[in-house]
Amino acid sequence: MTILVLGATGKTGRRVVSSLDALGVDYRAVSRRTEIPFDWSDPSTWARALDGATAVYLVPLAMNLDDAELAEFVPQAVAAGVRRIVLLSARGIPSDDGRERAVRESGVDWTILRPTWFSHNFSEDYFLPEILAGEIVLPVGNGAGNGAHPFIDAQDIADVAVAALTQDGHAGVTYELSGPEALTFAEVVARIGEVSGRSIRITDVPAADYTGMLVQGGIESAYAEVLSMSLTAIRDGHDAALSDGVPSVLGHDGRLFGDYVKEAAGSWVTP
Ligand SMILES: NC(=O)c1ccc[n+]([C@@H]2O[C@H](COP(=O)([O-])OP(=O)(O)OC[C@H]3O[C@@H](n4cnc5c(N)ncnc54)[C@H](OP(=O)(O)O)[C@@H]3O)[C@@H](O)[C@H]2O)c1
Repeated sequence: MTILVLGATGKTGRRVVSSLDALGVDYRAVSRRTEIPFDWSDPSTWARALDGATAVYLVPLAMNLDDAELAEFVPQAVAAGVRRIVLLSARGIPSDDGRERAVRESGVDWTILRPTWFSHNFSEDYFLPEILAGEIVLPVGNGAGNGAHPFIDAQDIADVAVAALTQDGHAGVTYELSGPEALTFAEVVARIGEVSGRSIRITDVPAADYTGMLVQGGIESAYAEVLSMSLTAIRDGHDAALSDGVPSVLGHDGRLFGDYVKEAAGSWVTP
């Protein structure tokens, strides 16, 4: 068994690789920057990455809402000998999403993971520059009374992915995954502030302004709108529910945000 891990330098892929390594399972870790490169926008890189693979941890690009690449990649993977696919999707995505459909219709064992927003967005990615700058500009409100969200630790997603990739009993299942407690963005930045000693304020903006900011920053407008809608859904209290995927697969409630903040504290130290 060789597991092809896409997005292997990313927040979940990196952790999937570490766990497979610890388990002694054979894997091939790929992204645009690896020795064997894999680039979604260059299909000529796919065959080499797939050579000998029997399972895939499939991490699509967040901004690629259209399913064209997956619709091309999945049959190629199956033809190359892949018998199991674990797709990283997202909670709240419409059930007729083309990327999920491509995996469900692959003809091989599949598992779909639908996580909430990751805690690690605050320390490894999207929100980190703003946290370091002391001001985070989002359409999420800026105080008590705003909606909360059960941010999930990337390690919990990776642990569920590794279970689905290496154990039986997960085929044909879609897991909704969340952290064990819902927090508002104000609570999140307060906790990061406590651990890091930083003063961080949230500047609330209307969704349309936020979409415009993202587009100005180079993000495609359809994806910018999805992000704004997702954040305003949190603000309005529509995305606070806990999901049961982590307890049902891992047998625990998921890592607490407070523990994540302690582990990630080094990310908020200015070099
Ligand atoms: N972040 C969240 O809160 C969240 C929540 C729910 C669902 N998701 C889903 O999780 C998936 C991962 O999203 P993420 O934004 O959090 O990113 P991530 O997995 O942390 O990082 C993206 C990964 O993709 C690789 N990559 C970037 N461009 C690539 C390309 N053209 N071809 C091949 N690989 C490429 C990157 O590596 P290189 O730069 O080395 O190529 C990196 O390993 C997305 O589908 C997203 O919708 C994310």
